[in-house]
Amino acid sequence: MVSQNKKGKGGAGAREEKSASARPSSRPRGNFWLHLKKPIFAVAPMSDVTDEPFRMIIAKYSRMGKAGGGPDVMWTEFISADGLCSIGKERLMHILKFTEKERPIVAQIFSANPAKIKEACEIIESLGFDGIDINMGCPDKSVEKQGAGAGLIKTPALAREIIRSAKAGVKNIPISVKTRIGYNKPEVEEWLSVILEEGVSALTVHARTRKELSDFPAQWSFVKKAVELRDKISPDTIILGNGDVKSLKEANERAKETGADGVMIGRGLFGTPWFFDSKVTEEPGPEKRLKIMLEHAKLFEKILSKDKPFDVMKKHFKAYVNGWEGARELRIKLMECDSSKDLEKVVEDYSLKDTCILKTKE
Ligand SMILES: Cc1cc2nc3c(=O)[nH]c(=O)nc-3n(C[C@H](O)[C@H](O)[C@H](O)COP(=O)(O)O)c2cc1C
Repeated sequence: MVSQNKKGKGGAGAREEKSASARPSSRPRGNFWLHLKKPIFAVAPMSDVTDEPFRMIIAKYSRMGKAGGGPDVMWTEFISADGLCSIGKERLMHILKFTEKERPIVAQIFSANPAKIKEACEIIESLGFDGIDINMGCPDKSVEKQGAGAGLIKTPALAREIIRSAKAGVKNIPISVKTRIGYNKPEVEEWLSVILEEGVSALTVHARTRKELSDFPAQWSFVKKAVELRDKISPDTIILGNGDVKSLKEANERAKETGADGVMIGRGLFGTPWFFDSKVTEEPGPEKRLKIMLEHAKLFEKILSKDKPFDVMKKHFKAYVNGWEGARELRIKLMECDSSKDLEKVVEDYSLKDTCILKTKE
């Protein structure tokens, strides 16, 4: 999951779609969370998934910013605060590239070093991000080894210090935290109180413990508990629930049943960049899915080919090519593609007329 050591260089920060130069935004800053309509729908941070090309595709096909469109806010993949403050930082800057169309956009950082968190927040604010989120839920060994991510659940005093340092590092953008409901067992009251007492602008509650990884169903009753706790400790903090949401309808239901201000969606976005468009009532058919997949792959190559291997796209191919007769056969061929040119050729050769009969499930 962690890929913070990729080669390549590139300017970061807000840019117009056609220009690759880094350019801090001139838009007014402040707590953007206060201006979002509820329920709020968010794109989850997912390393090697919700990168700039994918966010651009989501913004386009979910009609972001338009009536009935969404999402309301997007996260970047996480970035190491220590790495961002090191001499090797250029290798990571691709994570912090974004276009105006992806706003509001939150950069997610991880570290167990308060000084690095502060410095990273200064850098990120100067790049024009709308907010900064601190990862306190990642179970990856390389992150936890540093005491960061989910490791912070075990060191609440350090977690408090990290939040304070992040706040000290920004002038005018909000700080949020994304975490789990506990380490080995649910400890909502003990753990989430720590974060809420620090007065963060938003708190995303991934409704699983660290021990559960993603292997068990999310327990949304704990999101409801988090909302109750928020009401007592920090009424202005926005609460987003997260875990296993597969449709916009389900996201609305989860927000309603828990009282959460919004819902963050992760894996439900694989192969469904139209997820947040309330006008899409039927799953697009094979032809449209393949067209979007190709567009996504071309965008990936254009923006990230110096920074990430083309193989990163393959999890997207698997998700786009799903749900019709003949999909499996095509998926196998797509796994051998090394470029968008290869991909185009394979898709062209695949006869939609003969093999694609859309079914709900393969
Ligand atoms: C491939 C992948 C990468 C992820 N990377 C991150 C990350 O960088 N930061 C983070 O806070 N969570 C990360 N997560 C966790 C998701 O943000 C989310 O909390 C989790 O997938 C549960 O939500 P879902 O059931 O809607 O997918 C990742 C999850 C996946 C599947």
